[in-house]
Amino acid sequence: ELSGSVTIIVLGASGDLAKKKTYPALFGLYRNGFLPDNVRIVGYARTKMEHQDYLKRVTQYIKVGEDVDKLETFKELLDYVSGQYDDDISYQNLDQFIYKSETERSIEAGKRNRVFYMALPPSVFVPVAKGLKSNVYAKEGINRVVVEKPFGMDSDSSNHLGRELSALFTENEIYRIDHYLGKEMVKNIMNLRFANVLFGHAWDRKFIDNVQITFKEPFGTEGRGGYFDEFGIIRDVMQNHLLQVLTLIAMERPISTDSEAIRDEKVKVLKCIQPIDIEDTLLGQYVAADGNPGYLQDETLKNKDSLTPTFAAAVCWINNERWEGVPFILKAGKALNEAKVEVRIQFHHVAGNLFSGSARNELVIRIQPKEAVYMKFNNKQPGLSYQTIQTDLDLTYHERYSDLHIPDAYESLILDVLRNDHSNFVRDDELERAWNIFTPLLHKIETHDAEVDIKQYPYGSRGPKELDAFVKKYGYHRDAKT
Ligand code: BG6
Repeated sequence: ELSGSVTIIVLGASGDLAKKKTYPALFGLYRNGFLPDNVRIVGYARTKMEHQDYLKRVTQYIKVGEDVDKLETFKELLDYVSGQYDDDISYQNLDQFIYKSETERSIEAGKRNRVFYMALPPSVFVPVAKGLKSNVYAKEGINRVVVEKPFGMDSDSSNHLGRELSALFTENEIYRIDHYLGKEMVKNIMNLRFANVLFGHAWDRKFIDNVQITFKEPFGTEGRGGYFDEFGIIRDVMQNHLLQVLTLIAMERPISTDSEAIRDEKVKVLKCIQPIDIEDTLLGQYVAADGNPGYLQDETLKNKDSLTPTFAAAVCWINNERWEGVPFILKAGKALNEAKVEVRIQFHHVAGNLFSGSARNELVIRIQPKEAVYMKFNNKQPGLSYQTIQTDLDLTYHERYSDLHIPDAYESLILDVLRNDHSNFVRDDELERAWNIFTPLLHKIETHDAEVDIKQYPYGSRGPKELDAFVKKYGYHRDAKT
């Protein structure tokens, strides 16, 4: 689509996102031959840097393995320009630099394609977008603009940001990243659902009792307290990453795999979700345990009495024919006992069951670590016994697929940008719907409404002690016994 020639401009090239994700992903694509032949990557940031320092900085997180030579040739594609974020002269300088590079690379008019990757804090999103549009936007080629959350703080601020961006770029030029959509197992959800006759028929309220989507991290907010305290766990991972997973699990079958067909279905199901009720939530904040600091001891935290949740469980109800009455339980927390992200779909018990010892079926999609799809099911104890036992139909990726290499989510998404595939990016109306589901709840939490109760949980635990009773209330059976 980009006809072999492109300049990728990384705005915020000296920041964390660029160093840890964008450049390693670009290298991953380069190493595997997925970058267009005629490509240059131009970093842009405020810091003045020598070329060598820039190279060192943006390659420090790249895992080279045996491809040392490839890294050297990759470095030859990298340039750096420093400048301000709110200054036309700086952007004109950037434009001239790119134009010169395009000319040196013999790129013809009409093919001076530019991808702008905004690895920037939200405070400078809009001024940078404006500066780019007036000064650096390709007049003789295709433009693409990649942005990443936070997209505002709630419905109003997100809509406001959306209006600012849509005044500058068309929706087709904008790629809103939710990096969970680039993860292998999230990309697999549609295949699993729509390419298997078995699941297609058992995917509704008649068969499914409840769905849990869980995100657990074993570390706290150390070093990111400033950002996190303003946002909290719901904005950080639930309103975006977990809701995207829910949407893929719950949406109707799209009429095709075309990106707009997929996103149409996502928006449709989001429209059926009620705003989350505070009564359907359990909120928590971690406290010190076993030598690990509590949230309020985080040195980067300004408000030492903060009531920002670092844990949340919230139940979504989808009012449509397929899902009425089925709770979708989202759970997310920092400083928990393990690293795990998974979807757990619990089916109803067998009516009039003949066998004691059998349990409800559960389909588990483990997103990370150790990607897997497995199904808890019931089986006769092999041998002379007639005992029914529970076991797993197990598709653990690293066991099934030899030479398995799962690309990083950002690698997959940047490739989609180059290929002009919007399927795994968030559309403007989708974002608006996602905020509508969470905004009333977030406002209630932030005004410290009387109903808001933040439970404490020890660093390294499973979360607030009320959690088991909470999920049970919505029908989830922990050991899945009927
Ligand atoms: C980010 C959040 O969006 O996702 C982080 O801001 C979180 O707080 C991260 O740690 C999790 O991503 P992953 O890919 O490590 O599961």
